[in-house]
Amino acid sequence: MVETMKIEVERVAKSRLPQVDFSNLPFGKIYTDHMFMADFRNGEWGNARIMPYGHMLISPATPALHYGQSIFEGLKAYRGTDREALVFRPMANFKRLNLSAERLCMAQVPEELFMEGMRAVLDIDRAWIPSTPGSALYIRPFLFSADEFIGIRPSLDFTFMIIASPVGAYYSAPVKVKIETHYTRAVAGGTGYAKAGGNYGGAIYPTKLAMDQGYQQLLWTDGKEHAYIEESGTMNVMFVFGDTLVTPALSDSILAGITRDSVLAVARREGMKVEERKIGVKELIDGLKSGLVKEAFGVGTAATIAPIQAIGHEGIDYPLPAASKQNFAAHIYSVLDEIKRGIAPDPFGWVVKM
Ligand code: COI
Repeated sequence: MVETMKIEVERVAKSRLPQVDFSNLPFGKIYTDHMFMADFRNGEWGNARIMPYGHMLISPATPALHYGQSIFEGLKAYRGTDREALVFRPMANFKRLNLSAERLCMAQVPEELFMEGMRAVLDIDRAWIPSTPGSALYIRPFLFSADEFIGIRPSLDFTFMIIASPVGAYYSAPVKVKIETHYTRAVAGGTGYAKAGGNYGGAIYPTKLAMDQGYQQLLWTDGKEHAYIEESGTMNVMFVFGDTLVTPALSDSILAGITRDSVLAVARREGMKVEERKIGVKELIDGLKSGLVKEAFGVGTAATIAPIQAIGHEGIDYPLPAASKQNFAAHIYSVLDEIKRGIAPDPFGWVVKM
């Protein structure tokens, strides 16, 4: 697909916008009026269109439903002072989508389709971008197999879509997480680094077991020994050990989070000591017991910076200092938030106006 990409537009008859309470936005329950859709057929992308958000027809035989051949991204847009959309690091999402597409044996999405599709959604649904602190327009690009074939083989047809949702906080309070030492999210050689739907679907049952015990999330460990911290289901994780920011080094079983990368870049720029390395479960528990671990927080697009209030392991909950004392997490949240909202200069060139 090249410069000539044409997007057909079908507008809604009546906007749902007046029904939305922007002062009380939940996460992921409200969708804007329109969505973007394009088809990959006979080896090429076409039929790019904006249409009213709503249910759609897909084949009941599609491998997306049967075999989970479906990948997604998540990014946020903020309202700029001139009503423009300030989109945070869309190129990073674009690249990661295609990395996931390669792993799931799916068609690559051209940059123009990704960017212009997003621009078209933002253009038509600009009024849906919230401006209240703590809220944003969450953009969800996704790609799935559109074949009508229940055998197993590389799919031929795909659908790429973008929907958008005005959102508030994913976690409205500091979270309690449990170190998972039985179930596994991802293994070496698997799909853990891809943003594949199945990675998330497979995590729901173990997470529900932890939720029944009063936790909000799991801290996943490596699938071989359950001896090293990997990530949390909805976010990467970071710890302040003494004066050093430490996060698990990336591997093929950990999602390369864009917020993770942004936090590390800001911390390095501010001269903080940063380590990306293996973090042993034992090292973490010892650090929690001795007080060496001063802060623990999740980092993700949906979760933003989510302070962790306690970490559970083998029946014991190890508390962290109160969120109000987790100074680095609070500081990094406000530095990033001001860059994203265009309040502070963006020395990294991350914010794209659309
Ligand atoms: C995101 O942070 O964008 C995610 O994809 C997490 C999601 C599973 C809610």
